[in-house]
Amino acid sequence: MSRKNQTLGEFIIENQSSFKYTSGELSRLINSIRLAAKVVNHEVNKAGLVDIIGAAGDTNIQGEDQQKLDVYANNKFIQTMTKRNIVCGIASEEEDDFISINSQDENHQNKYVVLIDPLDGSSNIDVNVSVGTIFSIYRRVTPVGTPVTIDDFLQKGSQQVAAGYVVYGTSTMLVYTTGDGVNGFTLNPAIGSFYLSHPNMQFPEDGKIYSVNEGNYTHFPQGIKNYIKYCQLEEGDRPYTSRYIGSLVSDFHRNMIKGGIYLYPKSSLNSNGKLRLLYECNPMAFIAEQANGKASDGFTRIMDIKPTELHQRVPFICGSKNMVEKAEEFMRNA
Ligand code: AHG
Ligand code: MN
Ligand code: MN
Repeated sequence: MSRKNQTLGEFIIENQSSFKYTSGELSRLINSIRLAAKVVNHEVNKAGLVDIIGAAGDTNIQGEDQQKLDVYANNKFIQTMTKRNIVCGIASEEEDDFISINSQDENHQNKYVVLIDPLDGSSNIDVNVSVGTIFSIYRRVTPVGTPVTIDDFLQKGSQQVAAGYVVYGTSTMLVYTTGDGVNGFTLNPAIGSFYLSHPNMQFPEDGKIYSVNEGNYTHFPQGIKNYIKYCQLEEGDRPYTSRYIGSLVSDFHRNMIKGGIYLYPKSSLNSNGKLRLLYECNPMAFIAEQANGKASDGFTRIMDIKPTELHQRVPFICGSKNMVEKAEEFMRNA
């Protein structure tokens, strides 16, 4: 039984037995993410104080500027999971290829792979706006004890065993699911512990907020344009309002609490949108569905898409169920 105010450590131990493959391995993995999140939180929080903000001078595989904190967060999460020897493979937005762990050691028995966006919304760091971390966890499909292969990472989102995010906001929260609802934990920075503050999080079925980069409007497909017009021109009491932070984690977190929809459609500029299926859309989709929300590419359930590439992009529509269904209706009818 989860209780408000229990620590994340207590929650993990108490809920371990309800997890169907329980061996303690997943609990250890989530514990190591909790630890890395605290370290990254510490660094994010002093970003304005030290010479760590600004571009690192490198670009990642997608040609985007890497921020120093992107690199820092990437290294911290990878180091924490590698040194503690609890996963067999990691894929990251900031790494061109997946990393195989302990591939030389025939005795390693680790079952899980992790896919991660170490720092989401990184263009917001320099202006003191919330950023996040997103993670997605699968059981490997290749035999335990052998080096991981790309097949271990290119699994449908519906195969995820856990997913979560950290939002480094006005307070720092870790929100995650193991397929049994969604729980949110807030960090008490004085003590360094996460406490259960948001048990059993749920998207309201309907909402008033739509979140989309309207600067791309003219490049959007007709169905999306029509949906945005519908949000803007609803007759009578216009129920909708627009909020867009530009950090997926923060926009999603607000919409889950208040009710809303997030859209990053394809456009004539990006034929598959911008967001990455494996470490942005799938984990958010898993959390959304576990919180009574919905996630779609406009036509298909996100978690039913069979990935073909590690850094694959996909159009993403996610949030309150009725709002996502309405947007899908506009896509079908365009
Ligand atoms: P990242 O910082 O990991 O590259 O992700 C940024 C993503 C996402 O967080 C955000 O919602 C979106 O990019 C914003 O894109 P636009 O600036 O094109 O609106
Ligand atoms: Mn991101
Ligand atoms: Mn990122």
